[in-house]
Amino acid sequence: MKDTKVKELLNKMTLEEKIGQMVQVAGDIFLEEDINVSTGPLKDLKLSNEMLYNVGSILNIMGVDRVKKVQDEYLSKSRLKIPLLFMADVINGYKIAFPIPIAQGCTWNVKKIKKMTQISAMESNIAGVNVNFSPMLDLSRDPRWGRVMEAIGGEDPYLGEIYAKAMVEAYQGEDISKLGNIASCIKHIAAYGAVEAGRDYNTVDMSEREFRQYYLPAYKSAINTNAEMIMTSFNILNGIPATINKWLIQDLIRKELNFKGIIISDYSAIEETIAHGASENEKHAALNAINAGVDIDMMSGIYANNLKDLCLESKEIEEKVNQSVLRILRLKNKLGLFENPYGNLDKEKEKTYIMNKSNLEETKKLTQETFVLLKNNNNVLPLKEDKKIALIGPYADNIGITGSWSIFSDRTKNATILEVFRERLGNENVLYSKGTEILRQDEINKILKADGSPTIFIENEKEKEEASIKEAVEVAKKSEIILLLLGEHYKQSGEACSRSNISLPENQINLINELYKLNKPMVMILFNGRPLQLNNVENKLDGILDVWFPGTTGANAIIEVVFGDVNPSGKLTMSFPQSVGQCPIYYNHYNTGRPHTKDFRYMSRYQDIPTESFYPFGFGLSYCNFEYRNLKLNKNVLKEKDHITVTIEVENKSDCAGYETIQLYIQDLFGSVVRPVKELKGFKKLYFKPHELKIIQFEINKEMLKFWNSDLKFVAENGEFKVFIGRDSENTMEKNFFTK
Ligand code: NOJ
Repeated sequence: MKDTKVKELLNKMTLEEKIGQMVQVAGDIFLEEDINVSTGPLKDLKLSNEMLYNVGSILNIMGVDRVKKVQDEYLSKSRLKIPLLFMADVINGYKIAFPIPIAQGCTWNVKKIKKMTQISAMESNIAGVNVNFSPMLDLSRDPRWGRVMEAIGGEDPYLGEIYAKAMVEAYQGEDISKLGNIASCIKHIAAYGAVEAGRDYNTVDMSEREFRQYYLPAYKSAINTNAEMIMTSFNILNGIPATINKWLIQDLIRKELNFKGIIISDYSAIEETIAHGASENEKHAALNAINAGVDIDMMSGIYANNLKDLCLESKEIEEKVNQSVLRILRLKNKLGLFENPYGNLDKEKEKTYIMNKSNLEETKKLTQETFVLLKNNNNVLPLKEDKKIALIGPYADNIGITGSWSIFSDRTKNATILEVFRERLGNENVLYSKGTEILRQDEINKILKADGSPTIFIENEKEKEEASIKEAVEVAKKSEIILLLLGEHYKQSGEACSRSNISLPENQINLINELYKLNKPMVMILFNGRPLQLNNVENKLDGILDVWFPGTTGANAIIEVVFGDVNPSGKLTMSFPQSVGQCPIYYNHYNTGRPHTKDFRYMSRYQDIPTESFYPFGFGLSYCNFEYRNLKLNKNVLKEKDHITVTIEVENKSDCAGYETIQLYIQDLFGSVVRPVKELKGFKKLYFKPHELKIIQFEINKEMLKFWNSDLKFVAENGEFKVFIGRDSENTMEKNFFTK
């Protein structure tokens, strides 16, 4: 409808109805037989029944029948028949679980990420989603933080920027009301990935310059791509919770970045400002949030129960409420919900499109590009089918490979590695033993207890573990090669999954140690939601293939890579540490005055471990062997509005074909503020035929040299620079150039 009609609608609304639009609750309540808000999950929110039928949006209800039922139930009681908005966390896919976002980032393949995002948007749109809480664009440098698994750009601002744009474009399309398009809610603003010590929800304190340089670019890129919504983060940013941070929301997001969309708090984050000690009580929390500019209160009841009084006390607050409600009504209008409250819900397509064959095939291909080959001594991979292979480990016969955020996908549809191996090689040719559990029960119990779930006691767990490892050793003895399927539990990464120990679980390390004694080639397929500390097992393994949490098509994707039908090409987007003691760790750090260039005591170093990462940012092997040579610049002085052309020869020196991602980094050797040792500024992912030689070309211009100086101006300063090209952030060739 016309915008004038939207404004007319706003004028017809009572204050309670307006405030309702600014409240979001979990959708399940509408599905209960007898909706009684004095019991169940809404009791804590202290919502009245009247307010329940005024709420503007709900969270995480999907599926044609359910969404229709909820919308009908709601509209039947709503005076002005303003349809509900359905928002959800479709983080790595709806029914098809894609690899987790950190894995997707490792493809360095923007086209594939776009394709996958479109499938995800289409599947969820058919099933009723109007707004998706994705992408998560929090720069992540600390693998102790469980949410690094959601960070598509990993530790890099440039990758974050590119992926942000691609994903918002793919979610929203040209017109968000069209079938297959949904509004994108980017999150979490801001700098949530920098929580101290990697502990979730913890404090963030950093200079504005640092924030603008590294943390802001991905969010900004999504805002410039017209993302419809922003979610605030749980953390304090420089002393003030992000959710009530006026500088962040008003000055930066609304005024400077000109963001016109809706701002929603994270789950109960407005209320949490009281626990932070930044709001005195609920009413004060509501005042702080509305003054900062939060339009929707997700699941705290603070707006529902306090905004009315605030409006009655102040015309200014009432005006702010009007502005917020107008934004919300406009989004509903843009989605076409006033004409059709069911959006693109489609029963027929729910049956035919969701989990369809061609999308699953597409997903498998994308999944294969997320795998990162971390080690491959003596070309142990790909495996030969005529070798006797033993599959050992708790992930061999496990469907829990979709990650903790795939809340809508049906895990029982996932094939296991064991099944696909048996199918390919024949039952009799596959040796298998579980070896050990993913985690000991006492570890799992800690997680279950914190979840409020019942715990399980296992009698003689230690003895059982030893016996099971022994059995695995016996099975492995009959093999020529051991394929280990190991990793983190899916419940160990995601929200509220911070860990101080990021090694493999002890029982799995014991398994590796026992098998190592057999002196047979061992390859580990690693399932994980974060970079792990692998220094305590790596030297016992000949090969390591990191497959993250690969999702619905994971098992089929893995077997094809393991046998070489497909060549792995993923490159890391987060550094793997030598030890958790190095965290946070990232490649684009600053030099100290005592860089660790030689082994001398008074250097910036550790006494007990190397300074460098274990596997650097950008790292990932291939079955091909790529040689880099002849780095050339067409000139070594860069003038205003000009560019330097950089070329390098890359040759595939092997008989197989595969992708390589050629990476370009720049270092500003001297600046008015200290500049990082190198920064990613470009990359090309290219397909090489066997023995193909390519001359690869990049251009460098002054725009690429800009940074935030101490006056908070984004400038390029003239001087000397280094350009690096290579296969990862450490293995590079370099040349110097100057700017004038
Ligand atoms: C909390 C998480 O931080 C956020 O990412 C998510 O979108 C909301 N809960 C809603 O589920």
